Amino acid sequence: MRRMAVGMTSSRVAPGTPNRIAEARAEFSAAGIELTDLTDTNPTRHGLFDPAILDIVASHVGRSARYDPTPKGPWPARAALAERFGGDPEDYWLTASTSEAYGWLFTLLCDPGDSVAVPTPGYPLIEPLARLHSVRTCAYRTLYVHPSGWELDRDSVEEMLGAESDSGHSALSPCAQVAGSTTQAEDADPATEPVLRGVAVRRMTTDAGRRFPSEPRTSDIGHSVRAVVSVHPNNPTGAYTDPWIAQACAEAGTALIADEVFYPFQLTETAREPLINDCRHSARSRRIHLTGIDPATGAQDDREVANNQWFPSDQPQRLSGDDTALTFGLDGLSKLLAAPQLKLGWIRLSGPYSLRRQAERALDEIADTYLSVNSPVALALPELLTLADSTIARVTARLTANLATAREVFTDLRVRTTYGGWMMLLDVPPILTPDDLGIALMNRAGIYVHPGYFYDLPDSTLALSLLPEEPVFREACLRLAAGLDVLKSEV
Ligand SMILES: Cc1ncc(COP(=O)(O)O)c(C=O)c1O
Repeated sequence: MRRMAVGMTSSRVAPGTPNRIAEARAEFSAAGIELTDLTDTNPTRHGLFDPAILDIVASHVGRSARYDPTPKGPWPARAALAERFGGDPEDYWLTASTSEAYGWLFTLLCDPGDSVAVPTPGYPLIEPLARLHSVRTCAYRTLYVHPSGWELDRDSVEEMLGAESDSGHSALSPCAQVAGSTTQAEDADPATEPVLRGVAVRRMTTDAGRRFPSEPRTSDIGHSVRAVVSVHPNNPTGAYTDPWIAQACAEAGTALIADEVFYPFQLTETAREPLINDCRHSARSRRIHLTGIDPATGAQDDREVANNQWFPSDQPQRLSGDDTALTFGLDGLSKLLAAPQLKLGWIRLSGPYSLRRQAERALDEIADTYLSVNSPVALALPELLTLADSTIARVTARLTANLATAREVFTDLRVRTTYGGWMMLLDVPPILTPDDLGIALMNRAGIYVHPGYFYDLPDSTLALSLLPEEPVFREACLRLAAGLDVLKSEV
């Protein structure tokens, strides 16, 4: 057998070495010891999958004998999306998943080496998705203030978007423009239409030494930021996006990618004891100064954040469908129907007319190149969408019940305020390094958790899945609390 020569694969796919937690978990698995996995957000493993879905898909298999592809996906499927979410069927493109949709948009908007701005803390898969498309990520911050929740640090967004344009790039990458080039000349009215451009970004500096929960990972500054990714609500923080972001993108001529897979899973509970003892600000001030003692860590917290004059308790609005900036809304059945195995997502395009027209033709070209959507599920979509509301109700009931359990069990710890999504954040005492803590919790509590750094959270913040069945989740929380107590008494 021939061996693969060293260096044959691109640096974009260089596999990392497993961390100590992953190694320890593999050892438990090899020894046949089952851990309760509090990282697992696969709904099909937690009794949340509706078997009626399979009957619906099966009933459309017979209609798929003849392959009759359309780049955007079958019209009835897109009409059903428009009926549920608004807009026109022509505003929608079906994809095999939201993850694939990210890839298409990185191709559409970025040349190799360009950047997209992503929220931190945040969903860790965006960076590898970008990397596979030779795109870099740079981070803007969201800051946590207990108990009011997460706030977008507008300054960190403006720092990326505010600098002068260096490139004169047009909206789309040159490859994508092949499809859209004639359109630009035909449709754009420079007097009335905004121009999407690449923007140069300054190197952002952060306080040396101090690592705030959401310190930016700005390793790649000094190049064009072609899009801002907004995860609405964010995973794992549960924070809905500050709607100001659309205006910021429009003013900078940058596209907005609005990932709304968790949008319907809204949690309305309110958090308890305030962390911040002193909060000095005025409505007109651009800054808020926060000081206080973090009860979880005992550390003094002292920082200044932007005064956003927007609070997450406001009813969140969707960003997709908004025309302020060129906007690509992302959604899919993996969350909406708790059915990731169906492999169906979609992009909804909105924004100023001429920009939309350019993007439309380029997206058609990309979709036509892949034709990645499977026919039975796409044909079944109109019927499948009739199950969405019951799925949202079922999943949200689970999330709400488990979040209440966590608040009841973790009386000595801080359960962070969340407004939506499938995860919760728990601040634990900084008794061990994150890997040591993860391994100790496997040994002492039989629990598998992700360390905070996985999401760019502080080392002493754990991200827990809210999907497990209620008795399983309660049991796991009790074991986690007891395990932490033992570990605390030992150090
Ligand atoms: C914020 C976010 N976006 C997208 C996805 C991926 O969705 P899909 O299964 O459609 O690729 C996930 C998966 O967990 C996610 O958390």
